[in-house]
Amino acid sequence: MSDAIPFNKPFIVGNELTYIERAVRLGNIAGDGEYTAKCAAFFEQQYGIPRILMTPSATAALEMAAILCDLGPGDEVIMPSFTFVSTASAVVRCDATPVFVDIASDTLNLDAERIESAITSRTKAIWPVHYGGVACQMDTIMEIARRHDLLVVEDAAQGVGASYRDQPLGSIGDLGAYSFHETKNIICGEGGALCINRPDLIARAEIIRDKGTNRKEFFRGSVDKYSWVDIGSSYVPNEISCAFLYAQLEQINRIHQRRQEIYERYWQAFADLEADQRLRRPWIPSDCQSSSHMFYLLLPDNASREALRQHLVDQGIRAVIHYVPLHSSKMGQQVGRPHGDLYHTTDLSDRLLRLPMYFELSHAQQDRVIDATRDFFESSPPG
Ligand SMILES: Cc1ncc(COP(=O)(O)O)c(C=O)c1O
Repeated sequence: MSDAIPFNKPFIVGNELTYIERAVRLGNIAGDGEYTAKCAAFFEQQYGIPRILMTPSATAALEMAAILCDLGPGDEVIMPSFTFVSTASAVVRCDATPVFVDIASDTLNLDAERIESAITSRTKAIWPVHYGGVACQMDTIMEIARRHDLLVVEDAAQGVGASYRDQPLGSIGDLGAYSFHETKNIICGEGGALCINRPDLIARAEIIRDKGTNRKEFFRGSVDKYSWVDIGSSYVPNEISCAFLYAQLEQINRIHQRRQEIYERYWQAFADLEADQRLRRPWIPSDCQSSSHMFYLLLPDNASREALRQHLVDQGIRAVIHYVPLHSSKMGQQVGRPHGDLYHTTDLSDRLLRLPMYFELSHAQQDRVIDATRDFFESSPPG
């Protein structure tokens, strides 16, 4: 049998190892060294974000965002149930309640039309998630938020490099979170960033990130000793991760081009099957520039999704499902509140299958995935 094709594979694209060695020789690998600063400056300059704080993960950035939203017991945060655990757990760590709203069936993003009816006197923020790096309807979301005086935190974990109406994801809400986990487009093992678009939140964010201390002010010389001044945690990433990440950022256009090419090939390969209503491909609205983070297929039902997944696994191809809706999870039921009908969340998550997608996926490997998927449909008659 041919070699197995994994779902994801970490990769080296340029100077990653050279920069790691240099970071060690520079004598500061604990964090906030030269490479951490370079990574932050890259996003600030390229995406026009007032302040980027590099973090150990998107989870850490979301936890910081929850503190900056001043969430506390009884406060509510509107978000999709179709998301990664971290979106909701960050809120729950502040004893606030995630309010789960259904997704739109076209993009699988938080349905902007359903947000307003979920707002109560306890609502403090809206946390949209840009699924697969395709933007939520941010104009509508920002308009609702401003009218109800709510904060907006963009979970752009998968949206680095993507944009909505020419605005980079992460730069639109009050705050945003990026992920550089090894499964994302731009990677460093574990890593993330907090995007701060409200200058008045920067000073507190720096303190929260540094264990609740004003160490940053001390280094700047504005206080003569540093001490414990607020809540916080260890949200500074190590310099080695940022050295690796900076090398990837130097190649960001090449990485995005490659992912776009893979996405495009999958898109073309399944056009006829979509026309015959055997499956559905992802949809990108015309005002969104995607990060081409993932390519998924929507099968007619759960049984056919499982049958295709098994068919691919039998041929050494790792295609994988995605989120188990949070409102159906043990914790989600204990600490969250579903708002209305979550029909699309349950239905679509049951039918979705993600195909292998990574920088080094060769044309030959991708053709194997495509051929195996097409074989499945050719050998199983339409239902
Ligand atoms: C939507 C979303 N938010 C947050 C995260 C958490 O990212 P990290 O692994 O960097 O903490 C993920 C990870 O997959 C994600 O998909």
